[in-house]
Amino acid sequence: MKINKCFLDLKNSYLFATVGRKTAEYKKAHPEKDVIRLSIGDVTRPLAPVVVDAMKRAVEDMAHTETFKGYGPDQTCYGYGELISSIQKSYQRKGVTLETNEIFISDGAKSDCGNILDLFSNENIVLLPDPVYPAYADANTMDGRKIVYADANEQNGFLPMPDPSVHADIIYICSPNNPTGAAYTREQLKVWIDYAKSLDALIIFDAAYEYFVTDPSLARSIYEVEGAKDCAIEICSYSKTAGFTGVRCGYTIVPMDLKREGASLNQLWARRQSTKFNGVSYVTQMGAAAVFSEEGETQISRNIEYYRKNAELIGNMLDRLGIWYTGGKNSPYIWLKCPNGMDSWAFFDYLLEEANVVGTPGSGFGKNGEGFFRLTAFGTEESTREACERISRLLQK
Ligand code: MLT
Repeated sequence: MKINKCFLDLKNSYLFATVGRKTAEYKKAHPEKDVIRLSIGDVTRPLAPVVVDAMKRAVEDMAHTETFKGYGPDQTCYGYGELISSIQKSYQRKGVTLETNEIFISDGAKSDCGNILDLFSNENIVLLPDPVYPAYADANTMDGRKIVYADANEQNGFLPMPDPSVHADIIYICSPNNPTGAAYTREQLKVWIDYAKSLDALIIFDAAYEYFVTDPSLARSIYEVEGAKDCAIEICSYSKTAGFTGVRCGYTIVPMDLKREGASLNQLWARRQSTKFNGVSYVTQMGAAAVFSEEGETQISRNIEYYRKNAELIGNMLDRLGIWYTGGKNSPYIWLKCPNGMDSWAFFDYLLEEANVVGTPGSGFGKNGEGFFRLTAFGTEESTREACERISRLLQK
């Protein structure tokens, strides 16, 4: 038996696991301290009432022979019609027409960002921005794919544009971006689409944070941009949109127009899913189906607004301190420059020890993240206010 040696090329632990371990060690050594976590993007608002009611009704269905459900419908890779058509309608509201068989239900964006790679040879070259959400880099490293990076930095506002001299086959774009909070306009995405097409490459577009977009010039789906359907797969999630980080549900769009080497990627994905996945639970899918109902949209918007106010609190605090940052406006993440030239882990330790606030060191997202730091707006309002006061007091000293 031989192991997949590519795993040996990974860092020992996943970024958020390292942050979690360091936080737990600090708490163990200082049990009296009230530590505020603004690190991993985990939500704090409860599920919307309309979602909870739909899930309760689904549980009741499971309690009776007549309405009990086993495996989901296999024709749609176990996605229930109610959920698929609610996603289709939500795309229609963005001006995007999708066929129901282009929508695949998943247990969240993170899984499919890695799972989708089953479709592609490991000879492909992958282009990632640096800094980048570590799950994309780690999933490709596990498969032994070569990764090249597009530099995101202060000069380009952490929104790199394609370099025509660089060859890539698979391009990951996350907008609004994790970790930097920066977001592409439709015009900028068009440039990426043209670049991908010039190389016959595929874009994997992670739209997990689309609900935070308020600026009408920014895209919420790559399919809002002309020409995307034959070069892009879009992956999205209910985690940040509707507080499903613990419930687990998402969706992946693989357009029928997407073909490579004569094969339909939609058919390959359906084949992969029917072999390696048994769907998301009925109760979860019924809860998710309520998210894009009229009432659901109203209720989840209140939660998004709550997080937007947290982002504004953090942004205002950084403005007062004169600290440079991106994000926070169309995104739940605030990406700031560490004060006084500190490196990312030094600032992590300083904030943890002196303010008892946990964030995420930018260097954990790539070399260009060194000297930067990420805070999330997904905390409670009280903890976010308290964290801002503590950080202000510390940095004003
Ligand atoms: C993050 O903090 O970057 C996200 O919560 C990670 C994720 O969505 O998996």
